Amino acid sequence: MRIACCGMLALIFASTMSGAAPGANGTVGPSEQPMLREIAAAPDAAQLQATVQALVGFGTRHSLSDTRSPKRGIGAARRWVQARFEAIGRDCGGCLTVVTPSQTFTGERAPKPAEFVDVVAIQRGTTDPERVIILTGHIDSRVTDIMNATSDAPGADDDASGIATLTEVLRVLLAKDFRPARTLVFMAYAAEEIGLRGSQAIAKDYTKRGINVIGALQLDMTNYQGSDKDIWLMKDFTDAKQNAFVTALIDRYVGATWGLDACGYACSDHASWYRAGVPASMPFESRMKQYNRSIHTNADTLERSNNNADHAIKFARLGAAYAIELAKGDVPRAPVPADDSSKWKLSALALLALAGLISRRMV
Ligand code: BES
Ligand code: ZN
Repeated sequence: MRIACCGMLALIFASTMSGAAPGANGTVGPSEQPMLREIAAAPDAAQLQATVQALVGFGTRHSLSDTRSPKRGIGAARRWVQARFEAIGRDCGGCLTVVTPSQTFTGERAPKPAEFVDVVAIQRGTTDPERVIILTGHIDSRVTDIMNATSDAPGADDDASGIATLTEVLRVLLAKDFRPARTLVFMAYAAEEIGLRGSQAIAKDYTKRGINVIGALQLDMTNYQGSDKDIWLMKDFTDAKQNAFVTALIDRYVGATWGLDACGYACSDHASWYRAGVPASMPFESRMKQYNRSIHTNADTLERSNNNADHAIKFARLGAAYAIELAKGDVPRAPVPADDSSKWKLSALALLALAGLISRRMV
């Protein structure tokens, strides 16, 4: 038996996406999906925390920082993310492809031509690969002086937390052997802080290639609990129907509280997809007016989040639920363990031998 997955929520999102009215109660039917519940519960705060710490450990991830050092700067940070994605993919029999699209540009915030490199992990869909779902965050960080590429810019919250969150989603999906019907893409963008450049380039490229992205979830700042409710959906530069779908996922699979707010401007990479006509959402860690005031300073450390990842884990659960619901797919049937089958064979042989013994004695 293959465990079927992903019914009502995705269906309702799909129907609302195509313009049909939502269900009578505005949300979803009570479909129970044990696999989804199991995977949504799987994210691990220690894993999230370790990723945040590893990224902070590169000192600065400023877009114009060192690219050659193995220890410090954006180059070392993105190579670490690439290695992490590849390591996560290693055990799934080649189910993951990691690519590093890059661009060179000059502009107000890049006075000399510089290379900006994204890290992208692709899990191709099994039966409907042309439909694509993306989960995203940005690798780069900054301090108050946006051109300062050398001072420590730990960016623990902005946005090591988002990269840790999407990495954890990828880890738990593959650990549970999830095989998406549609294609899942995990994107760690370059150069968000200097003008959403990484996401803009990919969104343009996908548009040009006619890639059908059916949903985008941007994870930018997930580990600082600044407000009375857990998860805040930004209403601007996002898709209202997808946001409603995301809040249904939170209620059903995350068990967190949520509210609606707005950035008031194109505050992160979701805006690149919104502009490309892709349904995008930006679940955020606090109300806008209570955002983490340490971001863009050298005080954006894990200490601001009490040295744990207890807030980010809610976003990882949400990300996992989002990926599974939109990508559908299933978990392959577990093979019968060799031990068990050999035990069966042995006991069958013993029975036969016994039967032979008995029948021989009876004649
Ligand atoms: N994570 C921030 C955006 C943010 C900050 C959202 C505070 C909500 C509250 C992001 O990394 C950022 O700094 N974005 C830039 C966008 C700009 C370059 C287009 C910003 O806000 O200046
Ligand atoms: Zn920022």
